[in-house]
Order: sequence, then structure tokens, then C-alpha cells
Amino acid sequence: MKPFSLFFSFLVVAIVLATTSYSIDAFTRNDFPEDFLSGAATSAYQWEGAVDEDGRTPSVWDTFTHSHSRDNGDIACDGYHKYKEDVKLMADMGLEAFRFSISWSRLIPNGRGPINQKGLLFYKNFIKELRNHGIEPHVTLYHYDLPRSLEDEYGGWINRKIIEDFTAFADVCFREFGEDVKLWTTINEATIFAICAYGEGISPPGHCSPNKYINCSTGNSSTEPYIAGHNMLLAHASASKLYKLKYKSKERGSVGFSIFAFGLSPDTNSKDDEIATQRAKAFLFGWMLKPLVFGDYPDEMKRTLGLRLPVFSEEESEQVKGSSDFIGIIHYITFYVTNQPAPSIFPSMNDGFFKDMGAYLIPIGNFSFSEWEAIPWGLEGVLEYLKQSYNNPPIYILENGKPMIHDSMLQDTPRVVYIQAYIGVVLNAVKNGSDTRGYFVWSMIDVYELMAGYRTSFGMYYVNFSDPGRNRSPKLSASWYTAFLNGTIDVASQDSMIQLQRNLSGFSLL
Ligand SMILES: *[C@@H]1O[C@H](CO)[C@@H](O)[C@H](O)[C@H]1NC(C)=O
Ligand SMILES: *[C@@H]1O[C@H](CO)[C@@H](O)[C@H](O)[C@H]1NC(C)=O
Ligand SMILES: *[C@@H]1O[C@H](CO)[C@@H](O)[C@H](O)[C@H]1NC(C)=O
Ligand SMILES: *[C@@H]1O[C@H](CO)[C@@H](O)[C@H](O)[C@H]1NC(C)=O
Ligand SMILES: *[C@@H]1O[C@H](CO)[C@@H](O)[C@H](O)[C@H]1NC(C)=O
Ligand SMILES: *[C@@H]1O[C@H](CO)[C@@H](O)[C@H](O)[C@H]1NC(C)=O
Ligand SMILES: *[C@@H]1O[C@H](CO)[C@@H](O)[C@H](O)[C@H]1NC(C)=O
Repeated sequence: MKPFSLFFSFLVVAIVLATTSYSIDAFTRNDFPEDFLSGAATSAYQWEGAVDEDGRTPSVWDTFTHSHSRDNGDIACDGYHKYKEDVKLMADMGLEAFRFSISWSRLIPNGRGPINQKGLLFYKNFIKELRNHGIEPHVTLYHYDLPRSLEDEYGGWINRKIIEDFTAFADVCFREFGEDVKLWTTINEATIFAICAYGEGISPPGHCSPNKYINCSTGNSSTEPYIAGHNMLLAHASASKLYKLKYKSKERGSVGFSIFAFGLSPDTNSKDDEIATQRAKAFLFGWMLKPLVFGDYPDEMKRTLGLRLPVFSEEESEQVKGSSDFIGIIHYITFYVTNQPAPSIFPSMNDGFFKDMGAYLIPIGNFSFSEWEAIPWGLEGVLEYLKQSYNNPPIYILENGKPMIHDSMLQDTPRVVYIQAYIGVVLNAVKNGSDTRGYFVWSMIDVYELMAGYRTSFGMYYVNFSDPGRNRSPKLSASWYTAFLNGTIDVASQDSMIQLQRNLSGFSLL
């Protein structure tokens, strides 16, 4: 891109920032605590490609994308081959941390048993490359991609056998990578994973009750999400216990769990909407966080679900309670909540989780699942709520970002506005006592998006998916994040944006 168009884009940013309605005080990276980690993220299936190379076997995502004739991650960003180039981009950007996930079926092709040496070597090399560039790896063990063999053998997460296999997989990762990896998330956005995979049928293995919107080969939306969620908590707790017993004294790392965290706010100030909001929070947060922090499910869920909600034995409750050293949150969108027994926010189902929750989520502003507005107060509310209701746990914001049509390419001004506003409220929350320790932009570069394929993307680097070389180019957001991480400017101010534009055009970064 020419310096002229660069200038133009920064002018647009400056104007948008000046007219934006969020009141964000001036800030720089240096206003955050020194050990706060600012990074960016991807995940294995969405970034690596090389799905049948060097001994990797299919995960449930491979099967799902191919059987549903959707875009797929066969090549994705080709990160498996281009990891050195990407680490260089991260280093140029000044990323302090990088979050990624390990493909279970690349490391242990049959889900259990022998380790694939080539897979092991890939992750060792990649992690070393990050460390050599001073980038802290944050590893997610499970990001939606169960080895297909375990799904076929016993049904994956709805079977308690998963606990033992997941723990053995975690053991390999802790043992092999633990010297360089100090931050582990066991399961990615467990809440929405359980709902979408076992209730709504929209992500693999694609289970749901018979209904008129979507054909699932099997499932029961009113029981399976809770069974899968229960097994996720137990598998997490088991891996976390193993880490404490076997590795923690030497490696000194932390093991956390992550949930999808919607911003929620009552639609009106009526008592009904207030109570509905409490109920929505109990279902969407308490479902997993109450057991992790206090040892049992929320009363609201027990009352509504009765026998459909699994029960923790006393020993399990003890093991789950306190098993998460931090809470990882995935945050993108905020809803108003109203007290209507309304259908799912997903079009597919009328029974299952959202019906049980008994509250209707109303999108704010111009919303679709592939495009949404910045509602930064939603995240601030989530952080305050976690602080006040769950004993102020350590928090990492593991994903936050804005999707745009992939073809919009380098001119991602709305993304800059979005990220800037959200980082601003994270700072507010930290200043007000939230123990938030890190923030990761989703995504470091354009990746295969699990729901939208290649149509929309969140990347700070553009990837040309039509190009066999999968060329990367920085978007405006990459330049902005670079300047933020550099800590020398107040990236929220209009003046500095114009200055940034002048300096960057000199470097012809774009
Ligand atoms: C789901 O399971 C519940 C509880 O076992 C049962 O009552 C219900 O009929 C099942 N629904 C379907 C669609 O199989
Ligand atoms: C589900 O499958 C049946 C039988 O193959 C078909 O008639 C129906 O249109 C499908 N429904 C949806 C929503 O795809
Ligand atoms: C809402 O978003 C759609 C899709 O991006 C866009 O076409 C439309 O113009 C937007 N509407 C408003 C009022 O912003
Ligand atoms: C700041 O924290 C206090 C104490 O937890 C709380 O009462 C207050 O609402 C918080 N302020 C904001 C803006 O969230
Ligand atoms: C993407 O790559 C294709 C094939 O190399 C090329 O024709 C196209 O111009 C590239 N698009 C962009 C936006 O760079
Ligand atoms: C980063 O900050 C240093 C001063 O600490 C400055 O010399 C350098 O130009 C900055 N780099 C960018 C890309 O803004
Ligand atoms: C631009 O460069 C000047 C001189 O090198 C430096 O003082 C200033 O901080 C830079 N501004 C930004 C926004 O990078």
C-alpha cells in the first residue's frame, strides 16, 4: 500500500476515534501493570493446516467440515510450515504472549497411546521459536478438536472415559513442554462448546434432539450439554490435579479453565428483567464457575434441571473446587436480557440450554453472528461481576476481537476502534481492582473461522487464502497494536494517531 492511502486510513481512524461515543481515557501500555500480558491468539485446526502430514490423524473438525461441505482447515494459514515466519511477525509487532492450541491428534494420533514424534518435534520447535523471541506461550490443550478415534470409540465428551484420556494427553504436554510453557488452559470456551456441540448441533460432533431446523444424527439437547459440561469439569480437574502433584513444584506454572463470557445487562429496570439477568448469569457463568470456585452447580440450575443435571460426588466436588488457577474468558458480544421464555438465540432449537435458562437475549445494535458492534461496557461488566461474585479470580481475556468480511483486507479501521475501546475498559477494570492479568486479541492473523469459514476474519495480519504461499500482510490493526505494545504513545488520543501515521508511513509498514 502507498503512503498516501496509509495516511488516509489513519485520518479515518482519527476521525472515527474523535467521534466515537465511548469515553475512553488516554492510556498507554505502561498504564497496565508491568507483568500484564498483551498478546494475540490462534488455534491448531484454524491455523496449522497440514491435516494429514507427518502422522496427524483426523479430529472431529476434519470430519465435520468435510461431511457438511463447508470451508475447511486442510491448509488454513499453513502455520505448520510457516511458523517461523509467523513468530517473526509476532516479534516485529512486539507481542508479549501468544496463545495457541495443541492438536491432540497430531501429538497422539489415536487419542491415546504412542506419541507421534514428528508432531512432538513440531510443537517443541514452535515453542522454542517463541521463547527465543521473548514471547510467552499460552497453551490451550483442547480447542474443539477431539481425535476422531475417541469420538468413534466411545462418543467423546459425553462419556466419562474422556477424563482418563484427556488427563493422559495433558500429562504428555506438561511433561514435554512444561519447561517453556507456564500458562495452560485446559478447555477452550467450555460453556459454548458444550451447548453448540451437544445441544444445538452446529459444531462437531453435531448432536441435537430431533427438530425441524437441523438434522443431527443423534443427540438429546436437554441432557447432553450438561453431561458433556460435567465431564469437561472433571477432566479439567483431573489434569489440574496431576499438574499440582507432578509438575507444579518444579515448573511453577498455572492451569486454568475457560468459558465463553457474554456481556449481560437487564433490558429494563423491572424486577423481572433483573431476575432474568441473574438467571442468565447463573446458567452462562455459574454453570462452570460455581463448581470451580465453590464446588457445586448454581441452585437456579439444580431447580430447573432436576435429574437432567449431573451430580458431583463429595470427592469430585472437592477436586473441582479450586482446580482453576485462573479463569480464561472469551468475550465478544453483549446482550440485553429480558424475562421471556424465548427460544434459543441460535435458530436451531426450541429445547435445550437456552430454553432451560428461561430468558431472552436481545442483541444490541447492528448484530449478526458474523458482524457486531463494540459494546465495551459489556466486558467491563463481566470483569466486575467476576470480581464481585467469584472472589476476584485471576483472569485472562483469552479472546476478544472483531470479525470483518475477509475481503475488506487491510483497511480494518472498525477493528482498531473495537480493540482500542475494549483494551481501554480492561484498564478501567484493572484500576478498579479486577485481577485481570492478560488480554489476547483474536486473532493474530486471519485464520479458518470455525463458524464463518473464510468469509469473515478477525486477523491483524491479512492472509491471502487464494495464494498457495498464503502471503501475510499487516492490516491497520497490526500497526496500531504494535504502537500500543511499544508503550510510547497514548494510542487512544487523536493526536497520537496522526503522529503514528506519520512515523509509520516513514517506515512504510503497510
Ligand atoms: C432426552 O432425555 C430425557 C431424559 O432422559 C428424556 O426424557 C427425553 O425424552 C429425551 N429426549 C429425546 C429427544 O430423546
Ligand atoms: C433433514 O433430513 C431429511 C431427510 O433426509 C430431509 O427431508 C430434510 O429436509 C432435512 N432437514 C433439514 C433442515 O436439513
Ligand atoms: C448493519 O450491518 C450490515 C452488515 O454489515 C450493513 O450492511 C448495514 O448497513 C448495517 N446497518 C446499519 C444501520 O449500520
Ligand atoms: C469498582 O469496584 C467497586 C468495588 O468492588 C464496585 O462497587 C464498583 O461498582 C466498581 N466500579 C465500576 C465502574 O464498575
Ligand atoms: C491473492 O493471491 C492471488 C494468487 O496468487 C492473487 O491473484 C491475488 O491478487 C492476491 N490477492 C491479494 C489481495 O493480494
Ligand atoms: C518504539 O519506541 C521507541 C522508543 O522507546 C521508538 O524509538 C520507536 O520508534 C518505537 N517504534 C515504533 C514502531 O513505534
Ligand atoms: C514518532 O517519532 C518521534 C521521533 O522519533 C517520537 O518522538 C514519537 O514518540 C513517535 N510517535 C509515535 C506515535 O510513534
